[in-house]
Amino acid sequence: MLVAGATVYLGRHLVADLLDRGWRVRVFVRRPQQATTFAPEVDVFVGQVTDPPTLAGVIEGIDTVFSTIGITRQRDRLRYVDADYGGNLALLRAAEAANVTRFVYISVLHGQDLRATVRLVAAKERFVDALSASPVSSVVVRPTGYFSDMEQFMTMARRGTVYVIGDGRRIMNPNSGRDLATVCVDASLSPATDVEVGGPDFFSHEEIARAALTAARTAPRIRHIPRALAVTLVRVLTRSTPEHVYGPIQFLVAVLTTDMTAPAAGSDHLADHFSETTRGVT
Ligand SMILES: NC(=O)c1ccc[n+]([C@@H]2O[C@H](COP(=O)([O-])OP(=O)(O)OC[C@H]3O[C@@H](n4cnc5c(N)ncnc54)[C@H](OP(=O)(O)O)[C@@H]3O)[C@@H](O)[C@H]2O)c1
Repeated sequence: MLVAGATVYLGRHLVADLLDRGWRVRVFVRRPQQATTFAPEVDVFVGQVTDPPTLAGVIEGIDTVFSTIGITRQRDRLRYVDADYGGNLALLRAAEAANVTRFVYISVLHGQDLRATVRLVAAKERFVDALSASPVSSVVVRPTGYFSDMEQFMTMARRGTVYVIGDGRRIMNPNSGRDLATVCVDASLSPATDVEVGGPDFFSHEEIARAALTAARTAPRIRHIPRALAVTLVRVLTRSTPEHVYGPIQFLVAVLTTDMTAPAAGSDHLADHFSETTRGVT
């Protein structure tokens, strides 16, 4: 099993789930120093998805590829089309050449709708198109939003005020990395081609804000940013700033002004995650 994009939230849970099930795991990382952050039994391959010749050998002996590669937080100013699309495409071409039996890709819930207006999602769904056209059997997993990203609510709560867009009534059922990894690995073993998935609890944004404020033991103070203001801000930024500036904000506003609900799976609860974060457990 190969996990590409193994260094962050979902990728790390995928590695743990696969090891728990007794699989041999290789991870694909881009910096040699990232190798030291994995258990000794994990085989580490270092290469650059943006430089396909460096991928030679990465798929050797691999049946299934899991890719979470994507730019959520802009660190290196690559464009989405370079990483989310081009990087995953390079990996797919290597998988095709090595006759991999299954490719599991993580996109976003409502990706087919959001691709028209959100640059990040357009790149992801362009890769989904390439994956669907590939002879390699594949499944696209479409999560709602991760507990790791809900931590932004905790960060705001600790500072005393949580901001929500609009009336705060948009609904979502966020995924824990552990539950989502289980869904991804199960999907790799099933004939599924597209899996939409959320966590077990459904919340409005206002409820998530309250849960964060409770965990942070801060007096409840929630501020509403008018939806029209957020949308206008995105429009202005999209016209006046480069992609690495407007891209994350465009994505955030799109998902926070949409109901992000999907069939529920798993057993991890966001309130527990918030209290663990407060106690420094995670
Ligand atoms: N977070 C959410 O709420 C959410 C919701 C739905 C879908 N998703 C998708 O789920 C996936 C995983 O998200 P995440 O929050 O766990 O992690 P993430 O912060 O999006 O990072 C994903 C992985 O991509 C790697 N990566 C990024 N650019 C790369 C490049 N140029 N070359 C090689 N590797 C690169 C990162 O490696 P480095 O550590 O080396 O940067 C990391 O391992 C992403 O594709 C994301 O779009 C996320």
